[in-house]
Amino acid sequence: MEVELSAAELEQIEKIRSELKGFKKDRGQLIPILQWIQNRLAFLPPEAIEMVAEHLDLSPSEVLGVATFYNQFRFFPPGEHPIKVCLGTACHVKGADIILENFERKLAIREGETTPDRRFSIERVACVGCCALAPVTLMGETVHGHMAPSKVEGLITRVNIEKEVKEREKKAHV
Ligand code: FES
Repeated sequence: MEVELSAAELEQIEKIRSELKGFKKDRGQLIPILQWIQNRLAFLPPEAIEMVAEHLDLSPSEVLGVATFYNQFRFFPPGEHPIKVCLGTACHVKGADIILENFERKLAIREGETTPDRRFSIERVACVGCCALAPVTLMGETVHGHMAPSKVEGLITRVNIEKEVKEREKKAHV
């Protein structure tokens, strides 16, 4: 699943490319450089991985191997509606993995990815602190408790309908 970079991101990448020269060509700089880039772009696209590999004289797969080892790095931009499925113990025993699978199937992306239109991203998270509502899914800031696989489609449809309504309202005011 690939996500196209926006013009602003491409511009930012070019700036990063020239500022990267300020970092020592030292393998010990790999993590700080990746963190610095992620702070600028919110994720690490393949272009960034290649750029860092070239700067540190490593192969892109070496850089990717290190980056994927750490949970802090993202390889897709955050979606407009980030979906966080809790897989903490209380949620897990109540079938959270099936809920996660359903989101993945309905949106045709895997956990950690973002839809090509950048509307949705899926992430698995550890306990979000409301185990009494297990299984729990967060859609943006909204907590959806007592989730069930059968509610997945409804949640996605609701977000899509809300968007349609907003767009119609906007057109009506033009
Ligand atoms: S385990 Fe999911 S909210 Fe605690």
